[in-house]
This record gives sequence, C-alpha cells and structure tokens, in this order.
Amino acid sequence: MGGRVANVKWFTSLTRFPRNRTRLDTSEYFPFGHDIPKPLFDPSSMTNVTSSPQISYLFCGSGDGRHVFWQLVTTSLAIVQHGRKIHITMIDLKAPAMARMIVMFELLLLYSTAYAMYRSDKDAGQWYVLMLSYVFAGTVVPPEVDEKLRDIIAGVAKALEENPETPIHSSIYVQPNAIPDIIRHLKSWSQPSEGSHPASAVRAAGMRRTGTTKFETDQISSGKKKSFATWLDDCKVFNQFGIVLPPRRFMVKIEPGLDKVISSYLANPKSPNAIKAVDDYLDANWKANTTLFDMDWEAARQKTTEYLGPDLPIYPQLVCDAPYMAATLQGEDPGKFNPKGKSVSEWVQEFFLCIGQCMPGIITGKATIEMIVGEMSDFMDRLAHDALPHRQTNAPNVDGQDPSEFPKVYDFVHLSNIP
Ligand SMILES: C[S@@+](CC[C@H](N)C(=O)[O-])C[C@H]1O[C@@H](n2cnc3c(N)ncnc32)[C@H](O)[C@@H]1O
Repeated sequence: MGGRVANVKWFTSLTRFPRNRTRLDTSEYFPFGHDIPKPLFDPSSMTNVTSSPQISYLFCGSGDGRHVFWQLVTTSLAIVQHGRKIHITMIDLKAPAMARMIVMFELLLLYSTAYAMYRSDKDAGQWYVLMLSYVFAGTVVPPEVDEKLRDIIAGVAKALEENPETPIHSSIYVQPNAIPDIIRHLKSWSQPSEGSHPASAVRAAGMRRTGTTKFETDQISSGKKKSFATWLDDCKVFNQFGIVLPPRRFMVKIEPGLDKVISSYLANPKSPNAIKAVDDYLDANWKANTTLFDMDWEAARQKTTEYLGPDLPIYPQLVCDAPYMAATLQGEDPGKFNPKGKSVSEWVQEFFLCIGQCMPGIITGKATIEMIVGEMSDFMDRLAHDALPHRQTNAPNVDGQDPSEFPKVYDFVHLSNIP
C-alpha cells in the first residue's frame, strides 16, 4: 500500500498480529437471514443524533442485507425530512455475501431506472423485481429468471473488473482488496448450474430444512380463508415442492407448462401422479439459485465424510416473514396482515418495490454504501486506531468519494446475532 498511513504503530501491529480466530479453515456461507428487521432509526431521536450533516450506520455480519434494505427505506424518509446524507458501512466475513448484495443493488438500480422511465407502465421493471425476489428468497428459480440473472451477474463481474472504483454506481464503494474474490464468486454464479448444482439436489437440500419454516395453514381462521386463498395455494406448493410460485399472470404467460401441472396438483393435491408431474417438470426446467453457493465452502465440505450435497444452512423464511416485512414497510400492522388475494411472490416483490422506489432519493448524492469483506472485531479495532487500509489517505478516491473521510464513529450499529 502506498501513501501516508494515519497511525503507523497500530496499522503495523494490527496487520502483523490479527485477532485470534476461533475458526481456521473456510467459514460457512449463510445466504438466508432469519430476523425480522426493525428500524434502527427513530426520527424522534433526531435531536440526539450527532449534529453532523451525515447519519452513519454500521452493519456487522450484514448477511442477506435484510437489515440494510430496511434502513434504506426507513432512513430515506429521514433524509428527505432533514436534508442529511447517510453513510452505510456493511461488513461481512464472506465475500459471496457481499457479492450477492452487489447483485441485489444492481437489480434495484435497474428497477428504479426502469420505473423512472416508464412510470405509467405498471409492468415496468417487473423482471428486475421478480429476479430480486428469487435471488433473495428462492432455492431454485424459473428458467427465464435464471438466464436473465446469469447475464446480469456476468455484467456486474465485468463492471468490477473494468471499473473497480465505481462498479455499478458512484454511491457504492467496494473495498478494493475484496474485489478479486468478489469477482471470482460472481463469475462462478454466472455459469450454468445444471452440472454443479442440479435443481433436484438443491430443492432436496431446501426441503430438508423446511421443518422449522413450514407455514401453518391451520392458523388462518375460516372467515379469512377467502383473502388468503392464493396465499394458501402457494403455501401448499411451498411445503410440498420447496418452491415459490411465480405470480399467476406471469406463470400463465411465461411458463404455461408449469401452470398446467400446478393447476392439476392444486385440483388434486393427494394424487401421486399430479405430484410426480410437478416434480418432473421442476427438475427438468427450473435451475438452482446460484447465488446461494460458495465454491470455497462447498469444496471444504466435499472433503468431509458427511457430505450430503449442496448446503443450505437455513431455508428462507419467506412464507413466514418477507410478506410481513412488506406489510410493515407500507405501514400495515403485521399482526393484522391480510394478503388481499395476492400471492406470496407478489408480496416479496412488494418488499423490493418499496426499496426500489426509494433508490433514486437514496443515491442522488445522498448516500454512500461502503462494502467490506472482513471480520467485525478486526474492523472495529482498526476503526478505533484509524488503521483501515482502504481508508488511508492515498487510497483510491472513488468518483469524488474520499474513503479517508468515511465515518470514524457511527450513529447506529447493528450487530448480527451470529458473530
Ligand atoms: C446468520 S447471518 C444472520 C444475519 C442477520 N442477523 C439475519 O438474521 O438476517 C450472520 C452473518 O454474519 C456473518 N458473520 C459471522 N461472523 C462474523 C464476524 N465475526 N464478522 C463479520 N461477519 C460475520 C456471516 O458470514 C453471516 O453472513
């Protein structure tokens, strides 16, 4: 590293003597989170917050980004009301977690551009939101989503290679020495997955985890069954096949083959033939959500004797919480959640629509999102002693952003429950 180092003594000792790690080999990749995020930001605390014109957030163990996404929406209101900028620092041990976040930000940016251009067109950007919902919450994805998504992932890898300083947007800063590893994971995700992760094996891995997340359809009182009708069908399909059904109008238009076998199954859910027809269709056509796989973690697991195929540490609690997240974002009481005839998939998309529509306000010079692959205690030590490599003066100055001026203290800190 060239240039002046702010605190030579601390920089040298933190680099020479890194913190002891309890785990010396590859650590697991945890692609699905499990918390229901709550806003960190409370507008009434505004007067207690630092008087600086910037509000800063630190997310340690940011995982699938649910807490970050949540703050983006709740904070954008504060930005508008108080004219402040925000700085978000995300830190996670795993490069694939950060790579997945970059893909989701790219999809949000593409969606918000499409939305701004075609405001009157209700379907504008629907593909991007559909892709987002499957990246975030599906173990397997429809074939057209897979094809489009792998193209976008390949484009993001190329952008990082060609323009590491502002890969997808000037608001997004990726710690330079994490970039090669992030590119490696993106490139592996842009490859067809049939050989390495056949859909049947990935669905089976998801199904092994459904025990704790099965949606209890009995919870719905008979009076509410009508507004939950589509929802209940989705849950039946989710519990039986481990997939999130696409919205019906999409399915009829884009995947009539799936619509046909699903309709027969729903008409006769106990029929072994109807079940087999759906299984066969999915195994022949759907693809793995490649962003769930960390090639290093997979390789480490393959060396162990108990290897059972792809690992999914937890199944997305999609049916249980993403719709509740969407409901809360829109000011609804999640306890009184009413799907209003919508499908589960439509509710997950609703969640991302809220975020996507806030993106223009967030990115027009109002926010910096700093992405770091690293260990949170190490980050905090280095932060305290001004010894973060990418924040030294002379570190790359990204499109007007000077990393040496990134926050030294934070207004809000979120610690994942796991580290
Ligand atoms: C299980 S996830 C949970 C995330 C979040 N609490 C949720 O429920 O959505 C924990 C995340 O923290 C990351 N992590 C674990 N230990 C860490 C550490 N010491 N420093 C930074 N990140 C860490 C993991 O890689 C993972 O992405």
